Amino acid sequence: MGTPSVYIKDRQKVEKILTAMRQTGPSAVQVISDFDMTLTRFAYNGKRCPTCHNILDNSKLISEDCKAELADLLKTYYPIEIDSTRPVEEKLPLMVEWWTKAHHILVQQRIRKDLLAVVVQESDAMLRDGYQLFFNHLQEHDVPLLIFSAGIGDILEEVIRQAGVFHPNVKVFSNYMEFNDTGVLQGFKGELIHVYNKHEGALLNSSHFQELKQRHNVLLLGDSLGDLSMADGVPDLENILKIGYLNDKVEERRESYLSSYDIVLEKDETMDVPNAILLHIT
Ligand code: C5P
Ligand code: MG
Repeated sequence: MGTPSVYIKDRQKVEKILTAMRQTGPSAVQVISDFDMTLTRFAYNGKRCPTCHNILDNSKLISEDCKAELADLLKTYYPIEIDSTRPVEEKLPLMVEWWTKAHHILVQQRIRKDLLAVVVQESDAMLRDGYQLFFNHLQEHDVPLLIFSAGIGDILEEVIRQAGVFHPNVKVFSNYMEFNDTGVLQGFKGELIHVYNKHEGALLNSSHFQELKQRHNVLLLGDSLGDLSMADGVPDLENILKIGYLNDKVEERRESYLSSYDIVLEKDETMDVPNAILLHIT
């Protein structure tokens, strides 16, 4: 797997932000994080770890035919998602297509709400090493953590609940499942969140950022370039430090990650860097 690397394009800028954040302390900080492949591991023992969607896709709740269809979708659209040669505008409609098709297949499977906990339990989903310190430290210092995910809210919540870190300071924005009276999946609630629309819809219409008006310092964690816009609705933003996990297509994408994330982490399956920063500023 190789040694983890930390890349910083502008060290002075990072130091300046950290100094400013440390001065004002925890009461002015909020953390905004992506979920899949940011809080969860990308790989373990050389094997890819599942996203929220993959947890369901690979579960016993899905028929073999549908598993094959979902795998085909992944094979078609994931390379587009991470293709650095295509502009976002071109990828956007294709991402909507991917999510829409996948959700349609999931709904056909008549998934039962009461079985979600079981499939999460049986899955290979893993939070990154050091997640306890991350979640517990934020809770202890009353720092709000917003998890903003294009995954599936019900699954994501179950992952952090089972890990024992779904504390009251955690707020989740994601795609939530809609169940009928008998607890069978019949659709998804609200507007679709996909990797490249995290700046619109859901959050702008919510009161979340208004409630956190006095928190002008943001620590942002993501793994996709689409995650960079997660803090777009924060009013009176003063300092933002963006940490990006570069998990895949590392060589091709390093330059673009370095020009948009302040700190870029490669081959790093831990929360060590975000944790060190949190301990420094709070
Ligand atoms: O939490 P996050 O915003 O990272 O969740 C989105 C991720 O889920 C995407 O990076 C995408 O690769 C993955 N995905 C998936 N199956 C789908 C749709 C998205 O694995 N059907
Ligand atoms: Mg992600």
